[in-house]
Amino acid sequence: MSAAPGVLAPDAVRGMFDRIAPVYDVMNRVMTAGLDLRWRRIAAEAVVRPGDRVLDACCGTGDFAVAASRLGATVTGLDFSPRMLERALKKLPSATWVEGDLLALPFEDGSFDSATVGFGVRNVADLPLALRELRRVLAPGGRLAILEITQPRGVLAPFYRVWFDRIVPLLGKGLKGGEAYSYLPASVRRFPGPDELAALMREWGLDDVQYRTFAGGIVALHIGRVT
Ligand SMILES: C[S@@+](CC[C@H](N)C(=O)[O-])C[C@H]1O[C@@H](n2cnc3c(N)ncnc32)[C@H](O)[C@@H]1O
Repeated sequence: MSAAPGVLAPDAVRGMFDRIAPVYDVMNRVMTAGLDLRWRRIAAEAVVRPGDRVLDACCGTGDFAVAASRLGATVTGLDFSPRMLERALKKLPSATWVEGDLLALPFEDGSFDSATVGFGVRNVADLPLALRELRRVLAPGGRLAILEITQPRGVLAPFYRVWFDRIVPLLGKGLKGGEAYSYLPASVRRFPGPDELAALMREWGLDDVQYRTFAGGIVALHIGRVT
C-alpha cells in the first residue's frame, strides 16, 4: 500500500522488483539509451580502487557490481529481492551475493573500503537510516557513491516531465510488474534534490561530499568519504 505518492511499504517494493527482474536490464537500456552503463562505470571509477572490498547495496541485477569488479575490487552485492539476486549471480558468479536490507546491513562496522548504490536509495523508507548504515560499514577513509535519478531544472525540465511522467509509465504498461514504471516518476518527485541529498550525506557523517549530474541533470552522482 502506498502511504503517499512515491512511497511504498518495503514488502511492496521487494515484490515490485521481484516482478520486474526479468525485464529490468532491458528497460534500463531503453529508458537511458544505454547511458546507464556509462554512469555506473564513471561512478565506480570515482570511488573504487583496485583491491577494495566493495559493497554494492541495492545491487539489483548487479551492473554496478560488475563495474566495480572490472576495477579489480572484491565485490559483495546486497539486495532484498531474491529474483534480482538470481540474475546478479548469473552475471557475476565471482561476487558474494547477500539477500538483506539496506536499512539493517548484515555486516560489521568498517567492513568495506568503498560502497556504491545505484538507483536504490530513492526506494527506501528511511533515507537517513540508509546513509547511517552505509557510513557504518565503511572503514575509515572509505568512499561512497550514490547514483540516483533526480529532477532537472532549466530547459530540460519539460522534456523530462513528458518522458518520465508519460512515456516511461507507457513503456511499462503490458509488462509483468510494469506498475514499477508508474511508481518511478512519483518516487523521483518525493526524493531530495542534489543539494539536499549532499546536505543529508554531510549530516550523516560523510565528508568531502560532492556531486555532478549527467544527461542534463536527470541523474546525479554523489560521492562522499568517511574520515
Ligand atoms: C532500481 S533497482 C537498482 C538496481 C541496481 N543498483 C542498478 O544500478 O540498476 C533498486 C533495487 O534496490 C532494491 N532495494 C530497494 N530497497 C531496498 C532495501 N531496503 N534493501 C535492499 N534492497 C533494496 C530493490 O530490490 C532493487 O533491486
